Amino acid sequence: MQNFLDIHQTSAVDLRKMINSAHTMKQARKGLLKGTPDPDQPLAGAMVALIFEKPSTRTRVSFDVGVRQMGGQTMVLSGKEMQLGHGETIADTARVLSRYVDLIMIRTFEEATLLEMADYATVPVINGLTNRTHPCQIMADVMTYEEHRGPITGKKVVWAGDGNNVSASFLHAAGQFGFDFTFTGPQPLDPEPAFIAFARAKGVKINVERNPEVAFEGADLVVTDTWVSMHDAESAKERRHNQLRGYQVTETLMARAKPDALFMHCLPAHRNDEVTSAVMDGAHSVVFDEAENRLHAQKAIMRWCLGV
Ligand code: CP
Repeated sequence: MQNFLDIHQTSAVDLRKMINSAHTMKQARKGLLKGTPDPDQPLAGAMVALIFEKPSTRTRVSFDVGVRQMGGQTMVLSGKEMQLGHGETIADTARVLSRYVDLIMIRTFEEATLLEMADYATVPVINGLTNRTHPCQIMADVMTYEEHRGPITGKKVVWAGDGNNVSASFLHAAGQFGFDFTFTGPQPLDPEPAFIAFARAKGVKINVERNPEVAFEGADLVVTDTWVSMHDAESAKERRHNQLRGYQVTETLMARAKPDALFMHCLPAHRNDEVTSAVMDGAHSVVFDEAENRLHAQKAIMRWCLGV
């Protein structure tokens, strides 16, 4: 039994095995309808709880479909409708759920909630996003880069905009998969120093470059995300837009990246805020492959967690 809480807490060897397994499982499903069971059924008999304290489209559907393809069953739970949202402790919820289900995926606000769930659950817990990190997303992103361009090791990834939870997991992945990472955005929205320190300690190049034109030079992969995250106050919107306007990913900026550079966005996108529609729908963009690969990457993560 293993938790998948963050990319920096999982060995590089195991992360690589999961990516390889995700590619294999994706290949094995070519041409099948989405509801067709996988040839092997590693989750046969397993019950998986998917808990959401925040909205979701991709995480919710991809985990649900992934479990079913592997022969398991799911229950999708909203934090508000559980006693969790009415005063029951995380610890008690974790202990109770562990008597009913074999695996818990939780999307929540505070990282402390995830960690307490993992401490008290006696079944594996998967981080489906917290305010600090989004590791499942970045596993899908690494898989997507490699499916199009081969090994990500040694490549230059540029993150434009807000140094949010998704960028944090990219920094963890930079350290674990061995790629260089340039953050370009305004200083108040820099990623937390701890995330940068982790990647630097692994020996990869991490740059912070305020000028996006300089940052984009020679990029192999350009990534951005919404300027206002789910946990940010609505009142921050106008200030964020003023701070980030210069970091919108445009065709002009993409022209500074390598000709075969890829563009990714974890979605949902706010077209013509953080990225123009021309880039989203342009030749560099692999955003819908990226969304699909949530399914395959998470299936590999669940198998790793359960050792099946
Ligand atoms: N990228 C992502 O996590 O999407 P959802 O919020 O729709 O799950």
